[in-house]
Amino acid sequence: MPDHGHTLAKEYYTSADVFARERDTVFGAMWFCIGRAEDVASAGDYIVREFAGESVIITRDATGKINAFYNVCRHRGTRVCEGAGGHSQRLQCAYHAWTYDLDGKLVAAPHFEEGEHFRKADYGLKPVACSEWDGHLFLNFAANPLPLLEQLRDLPTKFAAWDMASLKRGARVVYDVAANWKLIIQNYSECLHCPVIHPALAKVSHYLSGQNEPGDIASTYLGGKMDLREGIATMSLDGAATRHNLPGLSREDCRHVYYYAVLPNLLLSLHPDYVMTHILRPIAPDRTEVICEWHFTPDEMARPGFDASDAVAFWDLTNRQDWHVSELTQLGLKSRSFTPGPYSEREQLLQDFDRWIVAKIGPVAN
Ligand code: FES
Ligand SMILES: [Fe+2]
Repeated sequence: MPDHGHTLAKEYYTSADVFARERDTVFGAMWFCIGRAEDVASAGDYIVREFAGESVIITRDATGKINAFYNVCRHRGTRVCEGAGGHSQRLQCAYHAWTYDLDGKLVAAPHFEEGEHFRKADYGLKPVACSEWDGHLFLNFAANPLPLLEQLRDLPTKFAAWDMASLKRGARVVYDVAANWKLIIQNYSECLHCPVIHPALAKVSHYLSGQNEPGDIASTYLGGKMDLREGIATMSLDGAATRHNLPGLSREDCRHVYYYAVLPNLLLSLHPDYVMTHILRPIAPDRTEVICEWHFTPDEMARPGFDASDAVAFWDLTNRQDWHVSELTQLGLKSRSFTPGPYSEREQLLQDFDRWIVAKIGPVAN
């Protein structure tokens, strides 16, 4: 059997130093996904998200524009917004009442007079780059980031038919997973484990039907497609068609599910009749929050009796099976006995991902 390479050293998944480096070279330097534009659907809506040690306020201002700011008051550095978000025309710091417009401008600073030494215009909230692709919201902490579309390369064309911008969230489940975020991407990127841990999935899609797109180190996504079995309409517990397929899809597209890891933290699973997303939020080397959402067409959601529970129950079961094995892997990696193991030819995407990780993070001491 040819050599298909070996898994990475455990430090990539366990070391606080690697986790800190990732905050600079991955989450501090790339576009990463934080949610959907519908999270700030109307002017005045704002949300607060914590990523890579930063708290960020994302607003939709009076002109309808989406903005992002560091959640840091320009007076003495106090966190401006507590909680997960809300609706307001202004953001006010709880300390001395400096008040900001939703476009970041400082509009009130009690006891500060405009003059030579103080101009409100100099003390707006500091911006974070924010951009949208097909309804997905991305942030970038780099000072002068490349446009988001350059990072996404050909994905917007590749997935245009799903018209994700038009979809609305039908369900969300948030998981707290005791595993490194990269193990979750690796688990997502192979289906050799499917017959072993996902019996319900194996009934609707054959694990060997997967066809990976060849990856390369410059790519910022990894993925491929799997076939739905004969007579199966979608990924759900019984595989039955309970919704119309998305209107832009070809007959051929409706016979597959496309699974793409959009690096560094969005997992995109495109089904004939819905799109599922996972957003990974690294919390610690051995802990990741995973936000899983199911998105449907507004027409379908408006139909009497619309019910997403078949898709949600199926993937909630599958998710929990995946998190469980990822947590078991995290535990095993901690052992002093652990040494990298061999990959098979069906774990090619994992090797591609490992190359990407090493290029981003560099070597580790072990
Ligand atoms: S620290 Fe925010 S108003 Fe003083
Ligand atoms: Fe799985």
